[in-house]
Amino acid sequence: MHFTQFNAHGHLRHLLTLEGLPAPLLTQLLDRAEDFLRPGGSLPARSTALAGITVGNLFTEPSTRTRASFELAGKRLGADVINLEIQLSSRVKGETMLDTIYTLQAMGVDLFVIRDAEAGVHEYVAGHVEDHVSILSAGEAHLSHPTQGLLDALAIRRHCGGFAGKTVTIVGDLRHSRVARSAYHALTTLGIGELRLCGPAQLLPPAGEFHRARRCTTLEEGLAGADAVMMLRIQRERMAEAEMPEVADYHAQWGLTPARLGLAKRDCVVLHPGPMNRGVEIDSTVADGPQSVIQRQVTYGVAVRMAVLEHIANGRLAHG
Ligand code: CP
Repeated sequence: MHFTQFNAHGHLRHLLTLEGLPAPLLTQLLDRAEDFLRPGGSLPARSTALAGITVGNLFTEPSTRTRASFELAGKRLGADVINLEIQLSSRVKGETMLDTIYTLQAMGVDLFVIRDAEAGVHEYVAGHVEDHVSILSAGEAHLSHPTQGLLDALAIRRHCGGFAGKTVTIVGDLRHSRVARSAYHALTTLGIGELRLCGPAQLLPPAGEFHRARRCTTLEEGLAGADAVMMLRIQRERMAEAEMPEVADYHAQWGLTPARLGLAKRDCVVLHPGPMNRGVEIDSTVADGPQSVIQRQVTYGVAVRMAVLEHIANGRLAHG
């Protein structure tokens, strides 16, 4: 049977990918995330929407931003939150992960947030949990990082004034990037004017993927007239030694410098999902400069995760 992220009542139950989610749902989540934003220095938004719900964060790969923001999002909505960093040295089709899930499910965890390097683990787990339990992806292999896609879309909507007619350029190691894939699904669904991809040929995605994006052969071509540029790091953990570009060469050809940023629109904003490699894909003067919205993205990440957690909890509470 084909896997669906929706429950029998048509409400989002799991969030494993943005692929196939309708634009009105994405817009609803972005609008709700806006409600959770507060001016800098203010106390954060809080509610009791998740009171009585237990969220379990299970990360088998390192994370700073996603893990901390899911934890804060859950706590600010009144959930009980537990964090586990699990080292799974050997497993077949997620079976060891499933044992961990069953153990935590028996303790009353309702909502699992999972990051895992193996493709398919999230769907496998989602197919085995009890009916009231939800799975949210915090990153799946090179395939999907849905809440990152939402926060990137929110940053572009807020700082570029919408999606229609806007040009967004994603630069770097697209081949190994779950961030790029989720951004592609979010932005194309939401009606971005043009999505451009650029990077070294060996780090571009295989032909057949990202078919609604335009591939550029130079950074200069990619940046010309862009409204937003998203820089990606080289995902060394997902490539063989022989595939890795030499750092100085990479920076010379693909690094975002102030001069190169000058080729884009004057108010072009700079995004990066983090962690950044300063002096490789991005210069510090750009990362910390006036066009950078990188720290804002981190703020939006908490708001977006609050919106997603609340939406999924509402669906469960509405239908028992
Ligand atoms: N952007 C992102 O996923 O960052 P972390 O790996 O720190 O969670």
